[in-house]
Amino acid sequence: MDRIVILTGAGLSAESGLGTFRDVGGLWTKYDLEEVATPQGFARNPALVHEFYNARRANCRGATPNPAHTALARLQAALPDRVTLVTQNVDDLLERAGAALVIHMHGELTRALCGACGHRWAAPDVMGVDAPCPACGTASTRPDIVWFGEMPYHMEQIDTALAQADLFVAIGTSGNVYPAAGFVQEAGFAGARTLELNLEASATSGLFDEARLGPASQLVPEWVDEVLRGR
Ligand code: OAD
Repeated sequence: MDRIVILTGAGLSAESGLGTFRDVGGLWTKYDLEEVATPQGFARNPALVHEFYNARRANCRGATPNPAHTALARLQAALPDRVTLVTQNVDDLLERAGAALVIHMHGELTRALCGACGHRWAAPDVMGVDAPCPACGTASTRPDIVWFGEMPYHMEQIDTALAQADLFVAIGTSGNVYPAAGFVQEAGFAGARTLELNLEASATSGLFDEARLGPASQLVPEWVDEVLRGR
């Protein structure tokens, strides 16, 4: 049985109108990531960090899944025991496209996390510094997002899936942020074939067995059709 592990990045949601990070006009060209995406930045100015993620939550609410999200949901529904969907994205567009199980290694905009007791709950649309944790009452609410310098979520589950993969596919990610950027090698060492689907060559393109260049909304449905024809 062929097992497929799929890693997605910001390029998957680009055509839904959610900005990527490192492309021209990307989020990290407009905001200082040290200020809005590190624990130190949050300690210095929590209001600024909340403002940044409140805006991203609003953008996400206004966006709709594109054909690439829909195709991945269709693939997972057709092959539920064979497809592991891992995303670096904090949006919920894969879920809204119908994907049943998405591993969010960098957290989720729709979740809140208490910095004091670790309790998690559904994020309100607008989060502020004074919001108390519903479990312990402390006002140290933060978005449940993995910031730079923090450990990504679900790594054990992801490493197990990579070790068992026959095919690893990276979609719409620039290959700049580890550990996700290292998954291609991890899967390759474990014997998987590796495929990149991206608008342009990523930082790790040379590590893949095959790279296809183009917009995700076109490449992903084509590839999914190909997999489902050959199953
Ligand atoms: P990047 O912004 O680094 O890369 C996006 C990639 O998507 C680029 O390689 C683009 O060429 C590609 N791309 C853009 N539009 C596309 C389209 N329509 N179809 C296909 N590909 C397209 O985003 P990520 O690699 O996801 O982490 O960034 C990884 C992490 O860095 C993010 O999860 C975030 C960020 O800092 C945190 O905030 C912790």
